[in-house]
Amino acid sequence: MKGVIFNAVEDAVTTLYSADTWDDLLDEAGLTGDYTSLGSYDDGDLFLLVGAACKATGHQPEALIRTLGEYAFPHLASRYPELVDGASTFEFLRAVNDIIHPEVLKLHPDAKPPEFEFEDRPDGALRMTYTSARKLGVLAEGLIHGAGSQFGETLDIEVVSGSGEEVTVFDIRVVEAAATGTTEQAA
Ligand code: HEM
Repeated sequence: MKGVIFNAVEDAVTTLYSADTWDDLLDEAGLTGDYTSLGSYDDGDLFLLVGAACKATGHQPEALIRTLGEYAFPHLASRYPELVDGASTFEFLRAVNDIIHPEVLKLHPDAKPPEFEFEDRPDGALRMTYTSARKLGVLAEGLIHGAGSQFGETLDIEVVSGSGEEVTVFDIRVVEAAATGTTEQAA
């Protein structure tokens, strides 16, 4: 996984807890934490950090990864402001597969971002299908919530199928326009 994702997770932990907490998690996980944005690191590091965070907080891994994704989004958005200037969450999400991750691949040719497919549902939901061998659909769910907050929209994300699998299907609905999007997740 690219270092920029670890940087974003560090930012999320610092926002939710503190810089000291991030250092404690690194110690507990036995990691040095020298993540440079362009470097590539073992996916296992991420799971070691999640394991340490679960031990420290008592949260379940899924809820924790979802929350980290939500709070990691602003870091990605601030690093690549030109990629987040869309008009709405749905417009932005549709661009992730066709524009954003391909742009990421230009900067990080060795990255393997997930694939997304989109379908408009009759009830107005945006169906988004995540595919990746990493099985990190729950991280995508958190990042989608983070994108909603960025655009001032609160989202309802229904996991239709494949929770924790290589293919996860989400139906996303805009609940309300809000100044800040908050979700009931572990923190
Ligand atoms: C400005 C916005 C974004 C940027 C710059 C960005 C960038 C990246 C980068 C660099 C990676 C690492 C890939 C690797 O190391 O192989 C990644 C992975 C990932 N991205 Fe994005 N991303 C953005 C938005 C999103 C959004 C909105 C979603 C959710 C819909 C998303 C879902 C994911 C997931 C789940 C991964 C983890 C890898 C996997 O599951 O295979 N990203 N992204």
